[in-house]
Amino acid sequence: MLVHIKKIITAAEKGKYAVGAFNVNNLEIVQAVVNAAEKMKAPVIVQVTEGAIKYAGLKEITALVKSYATETKIPVALHLDHGHDFKIIKKCITAGFSSVMIDASGLPYKKNVELTKKVVAYAHARKVWVQAELGTLEGAEDWIKVGKGEGYFTDPKEAKRFVKETNINSFAPSVGNYHGVAKIVEKKVLKLDLKRLAEIGKIVPVPLVLHGASGFPEGQIKAAIKAGIRVINIDSELRLSFARAERTFFEININEYDPRKILEPAIIAMQKVVIKKITLFGSRNKAK
Ligand code: G3H
Ligand code: 13P
Ligand code: ZN
Repeated sequence: MLVHIKKIITAAEKGKYAVGAFNVNNLEIVQAVVNAAEKMKAPVIVQVTEGAIKYAGLKEITALVKSYATETKIPVALHLDHGHDFKIIKKCITAGFSSVMIDASGLPYKKNVELTKKVVAYAHARKVWVQAELGTLEGAEDWIKVGKGEGYFTDPKEAKRFVKETNINSFAPSVGNYHGVAKIVEKKVLKLDLKRLAEIGKIVPVPLVLHGASGFPEGQIKAAIKAGIRVINIDSELRLSFARAERTFFEININEYDPRKILEPAIIAMQKVVIKKITLFGSRNKAK
């Protein structure tokens, strides 16, 4: 069932677990995410970026997610991930998203607050939740690339001030988390600043969202949840499992032409990722 993200995150806060927010771009990814969450009896956040909207169409991807959500008993929430363009944010709200992210983290503090407040005023008037970020994550997301050394970690006190000034509903900190597949393919050493995160968790009064979480060791993810992370964004591991499954498929079935047979291994591989993440995040059997 399609629900407001508030229902899912409030329950996660109460139960001290995290919910997976999975990025989708097409039917096969939506199908894998919702079906895996259903198998696990877990609530799930399905999210699209501006890039996903450009690829699939806003009406089309919204209809797809809503349609899968309506057909299942588990709670499914629809969220705009990394919104940069106010016009697109407004369109998503009109389309029925219960949550949007305004990512003005690349702007100086004052400008970030200014734009975030504008989005909050618009969204809250329509009962929609807003997520925002302070501090930048390295890696690639959409057209924005933050290079090595250009990212900076969130200052806990500044984060507290930011949340108070903007009145956002969830907060995405930068604590060593890192976007993109490169960190996995290149086997980078991944280390969350758990001390900083715990401090943010203590003084920031809204649920925390961990971006760039693909590939991080399970122990660190568990510790992050203990520190107050309630939503965990996963895209890269879905992409990698999709691509790897397809490569393997074509190594063996070079002459296959039926799209259903071609895409089935990718769906199965992505489902495995989602099941693994839901188990790790503690949201298994939390669908209510
Ligand atoms: O951070 C979010 C995504 O991994 C970036 O995905 O290419 O759809 O913007 P995108
Ligand atoms: P990954 O690149 O680690 O999957 O992060 C996804 C993300 O943060 C989407 O917003
Ligand atoms: Zn992200």
